[in-house]
Amino acid sequence: MKKVVIFDSGVGGLSVYQEIHALLPQVQYIYAFDNAAFPYGELDDTTLIKRTNHIVTLLANQYQADLVVIACNTASTIVLPSLRQQLTIPVVGVVPAIKPAALVSQTKSIGLLATPATVNRAYTHQLVQQFANGCEVKMIGSTRLVEMAEQKLRGKPVDIEELAEILMPWQGIVDSIVLGCTHFPLIKQEILLALKQQVNIIDSGKAIAKRVALLLELSNDVITTSNVMKNVTYSSAATSDAVALNKSLNKMQLDIIQDLNYPHFSAH
Ligand code: DGL
Repeated sequence: MKKVVIFDSGVGGLSVYQEIHALLPQVQYIYAFDNAAFPYGELDDTTLIKRTNHIVTLLANQYQADLVVIACNTASTIVLPSLRQQLTIPVVGVVPAIKPAALVSQTKSIGLLATPATVNRAYTHQLVQQFANGCEVKMIGSTRLVEMAEQKLRGKPVDIEELAEILMPWQGIVDSIVLGCTHFPLIKQEILLALKQQVNIIDSGKAIAKRVALLLELSNDVITTSNVMKNVTYSSAATSDAVALNKSLNKMQLDIIQDLNYPHFSAH
């Protein structure tokens, strides 16, 4: 049985987990989120690198994982080189899908919706230079949207008017939107409602799932559901707020939260 560790600051990585799980249900998943230091889009680079490396290597070793997915654009755009040095297994990062958006855009006007940290990263600007030549890429970095997705999974509806206000600068301007934060596919329908216009919405989930299948040398035609092991979720602090996610997690076939318990590791 193959084991995959999926990591994010919060529930965003679940959008990626859902895509991978749909393609590869025969794998055991260990989902970990660092809610003690959420949101990552507001965190300084050193803390983010330290925490991601620490949590991911800990769980990868504990489970003897076959592969790790950093299901967080904010972390992937800065942490992959150091993490890959520490692990011998493949590390798949999730970064904004600029290239497919540039290919699909008719008007060559693209919106990148991400966290404040991701829109500022040198890595992101390199992606734009490399893959969106000839396109105008307009960026919105929003932590509020990340919080909305978190709340949605705790049962609170998204305020469409507030969302429309955040997306206002793009109204009638972009024809394609890159969801450059893994939280945003969780509120994709709401984003479409708020925009009130036809747009292509592009995220990295399906491409990541295919990449994982390729690296694990698995395909979905060899499923043996009889030996599927229980998936597990870890939070960096099992607060009542984190535990409130259990309903959503159970629906996604993830077993309830366990505490990573880092007394030595303060959040900020
Ligand atoms: N889900 C994350 C991302 O893909 C980070 C959100 C946050 O914690 O700010 O960027």
